[in-house]
Amino acid sequence: MITITPREFRSIAEYVKRHYGIHLKEAKMTLVMGRLQQLLQQKGCASFSEYYDYLVSDKSGAAGALLVNKITTNHTFFMREPEHFTFFRDQVLPGLVPTLKDKDLRIWSAGCSTGQEPYTLAMILQDYFGKGQAGWDTKVLATDISSQVLDTAMAGVYSNEQVSTLPELWRSAYFQKRNRVEWAVNDRLRKEVIFRRFNLMDSVYPFRKKFHAIFCRNVMIYFDNPTKEALINKFWEITEPGGYLFVGHSESLNRDRTDYRYIMPAVYRKE
Ligand SMILES: C[S@@+](CC[C@H](N)C(=O)[O-])C[C@H]1O[C@@H](n2cnc3c(N)ncnc32)[C@H](O)[C@@H]1O
Repeated sequence: MITITPREFRSIAEYVKRHYGIHLKEAKMTLVMGRLQQLLQQKGCASFSEYYDYLVSDKSGAAGALLVNKITTNHTFFMREPEHFTFFRDQVLPGLVPTLKDKDLRIWSAGCSTGQEPYTLAMILQDYFGKGQAGWDTKVLATDISSQVLDTAMAGVYSNEQVSTLPELWRSAYFQKRNRVEWAVNDRLRKEVIFRRFNLMDSVYPFRKKFHAIFCRNVMIYFDNPTKEALINKFWEITEPGGYLFVGHSESLNRDRTDYRYIMPAVYRKE
């Protein structure tokens, strides 16, 4: 086992914060040491200082991408914080959709991890529009910084246990049983989600149009307050007037420091 010194940890934590916004507290030192062991061995680094030198000297982005795959927390599951989905189906869509003149509904799952959140949104949209979906663009944009979770999301294969929280109707309409233990998202659902790698810390957000709803749930818990506030300001800029921001239940916005209006726990609206 290669051990990490507090100084080495601080250098890596500072790099992670600067590039990805993720705030690694001192208490995460052992966790980081464990998660990076294999990477150090693969790269032939004898110490964390050597690894850090390799990290900062790599200009290709590959070293950072490998690091991010190791240090992000990607825990997610189908039907997480289900009241958001109910609100989206029963309030957001009926309120918004009739106001859209160009049949273009733009939903973004920012920090989508292994895909359960955007696929759920896509199922709600399919159910909501039904046969009337023709002519509409309702594709969900799903982004994450980790290429590893995006690969899983794009594969769209989930275990029996993972799909067990889904309503039976959805499972039969949008999934196919692959074998005794796995289910795969069917083509109809798969084509409704566009997965892309995107770092929320990027200074430029390359979106041509603003979003009607942004889901950024359980992502900002890993950021410190200034980073979180800067991100919320960016979300504000790219939310359509009348559009919504959904965050995780432990991530409420400071109401004195945002123009989003509070609607219900972890749901905000740009008015
Ligand atoms: C805990 S998961 C949340 C998944 C889902 N939104 C949910 O609520 O279940 C957090 C995700 O945020 C991603 N993430 C962390 N920092 C990021 C950044 N700077 N840019 C984009 N995604 C990031 C992680 O890779 C991880 O997959």
